[in-house]
Order: sequence, then structure tokens, then C-alpha cells
Amino acid sequence: MAETKTILRALAGETMPTPPIWMMRQAGRYLPEYKATRAEAGDFLSLCYNSDLATEVTLQPIRRYGFDAAILFADILLVPQALGADLWFVTGEGPRLSTITGEADFAKLGGKDDIHETLNPIYQTVRNLRSALPPETTLIGFAGAPWTVATYMIAGKGTPDQAPAHALKATHPEVFDALMARITEATIEYLSHQIDAGAEVVKIFDSWAGSLKGADFDKYALAPTKEIIAALKARHPDTPIIAFPREAGENYIGFAKATGADCVAIDDSVTAEWAAQNVQTDGCVQGNLKSSHMVTGGDALVSETRRIVDALKGGPHIFNLGHGITPDADPANVQLMIDTVRGA
Ligand code: CP3
Repeated sequence: MAETKTILRALAGETMPTPPIWMMRQAGRYLPEYKATRAEAGDFLSLCYNSDLATEVTLQPIRRYGFDAAILFADILLVPQALGADLWFVTGEGPRLSTITGEADFAKLGGKDDIHETLNPIYQTVRNLRSALPPETTLIGFAGAPWTVATYMIAGKGTPDQAPAHALKATHPEVFDALMARITEATIEYLSHQIDAGAEVVKIFDSWAGSLKGADFDKYALAPTKEIIAALKARHPDTPIIAFPREAGENYIGFAKATGADCVAIDDSVTAEWAAQNVQTDGCVQGNLKSSHMVTGGDALVSETRRIVDALKGGPHIFNLGHGITPDADPANVQLMIDTVRGA
């Protein structure tokens, strides 16, 4: 049967007259209905692990806007937690974790097969979603890439320059490499279980890939992503994979070919015209509207949206933001973006 889901068609390499669209962090604090469900859950992590409420918040932006894809509601930091790290969120500041400063901290972590006890509710959310979503909507699962997850596990929080992770890599390379390997193998199991539960696409978020320079980019961003994709393709050859090595710049070139990804998501530090010339030549590109347009709206939102659609119309493209929508965004601007993409 011919594929009817627009996201899957774009990921298979089809150039669509209108690009399919979804949005990073589409379930989030800019939506009043999200805030209400989060309050009902109590806090962010309780929401992630409550399959019924996580299903509900995943569906909210689909009901409101009719996006072409739903992204599982969860977080990249659930894998560290499932490996035994302490994890909590400080309101207004972000995530906090126990730190990894040497061999003793690493030795306390569990193995790849220990993660499912913690992560079972996430697989249940995926199963719920596959039966609840409209037939035209694609379900995307996800995980963080090893480098990005490692930066949080090492520092115990988000850092502007990922200095603690770079330092551990230099001073304790054996601990750093063992941590990367542990996250890589756990991520393969996690994503494979998401696919078994019904995820139709998976996305690998390497939010801090841009701080890896030169040979480090190949070793710690490209190679682990390639390893995860190879393992997933061996088990699930028909499941497309989106890679997001954020702020990779010139390293976006050839990334899909080198890793086996079916699509590369690009941030807003490169132009869509550049991506058409240099990245889309290898296949589907996703991105790259600046998230700030969801706050400011108006003519600039419309003209930038049109420019991106136009620049990438010669090949497979999934419209998205260059990074997640922020809590101060106006839900009406999201509708304006969608109407502009769909030509209403
Ligand atoms: O996109 C979606 O709607 C799906 C769910 C999703 C969340 N986080 C929910 C979330 C996804 C795909 C993520 C990925 C994620 N989480 C990344 C990679 C993408 C990126 O943004 O670069 C990273 C680095 C994280 C780690 C994380 N989670 C941070 C740094 C924070 C705090 C910053 C913030 O925005 O508050 C979170 C919290 C988080 N994850 C929220 C949501 C909806 C906000 C939590 C809340 O409701 O208070």
C-alpha cells in the first residue's frame, strides 16, 4: 500500500508540494492545557512517568494544530536516571543530576539491561499513543545522543560550554570513554524498545554537538550516532531515523551519509539556502525557523517561513523550528506558521 503519512513520505526521500510540519517541544509550557496537565501530575518528572498524562500532553498539540507528527512526551535525561543517576528539576533553572567525576561514580551505574524497569512507563505511553493518534499522524520517539547526555551526567546540570565534560575527556579518558559506551548501548536498547512499542520514527538529539571541534566531532558526535543507527537498522530496518547534531555547522555536510541517518535536523545558525546546497543533496532535511518567531510573530514570521519552504522545496523537507519552542511563545504564532507553510 502506498504510504499516506506525509512525514514518512518525506523521510523516504519524497519531495512534497507542501512540507509536513511538527515542532520541537510542541507539548510544552507555551500551551495553557500543558500547564494544567503538568499541575495535575505535580511536577515534570511525574508527568513523564505517568503514561496516561504523558499521552494526554503529547496529544494536546495534535488536537490544537493538527501537526503531521506527534513526539513522545519524555526527556533525554530519563536514560541517566534509568542507569541509576539521581535526577531532579529545579523550577526556573532546569535539570540537576548526581555528577560523574571519576571511576567510583561510573562504577555505581547500572547496565544497559537494567534500564527498562524505570523506562517501562515510557513504552506504555508509546503504546497508548499508537492507538490514540489519528491515522495520518506519525509518532516520533527519541533519545539524547551520548555526548549530550554525558555532558549532563558529568556536570550534573546544563552548562553553557560543556567544560566539565571536556575536562573529564582530557583528564580521565578511560572513564569518559566507558561512560560514552554505556550511554550508547543503553540508548540502543531504549530506542529499540520504543520502536517495538510503536514509535514509527526515532530522533537522536545531540544538542551540544556544536562544542565538539575537529576530530572530537567525529569521535564523540558522529561515531556514537552511527553506532546507534547501525544497531537500530539491523533490528528495525524500516524505521527512519532523524539525527540532530545541533550547531554542527560545516559538520552537517555528509552527516547523513556518514551515520546512516534518513534525515538531518538543522538548527538556525545555518541558512536554509545553504542547507539546500550542502545537506539536502543527501536526503531529507528538517528545520530551521528561529524559535524567537514564535514569540514575535507578524510579517517577519510569515516571510521567514516562506523563505525556508521556498529554499528547501527542491528536495525532501520536514518543516520545523531550529530548536525548541520557548515558554514565552504565543500559541497564535504557531497557528500562523502552520497556515503559512500550508499556504492557507
Ligand atoms: O519536544 C517535545 O515536545 C517532546 C518532549 C521533549 C522534552 N525534552 C520535554 C521537556 C523532548 C524531545 C526533550 C528533549 C530534551 N531534553 C533535550 C534535547 C533537545 C533540546 O532542547 O536541545 C534536552 C537537552 C533536554 C534536557 C532538558 N529537559 C532541559 C535542559 C530542560 C530544562 C529546560 C527547559 O526548557 O525547562 C528540560 C525540561 C523539559 N523537557 C521541559 C519539557 C516540556 C520543560 C519542563 C517543564 O514543564 O517544566
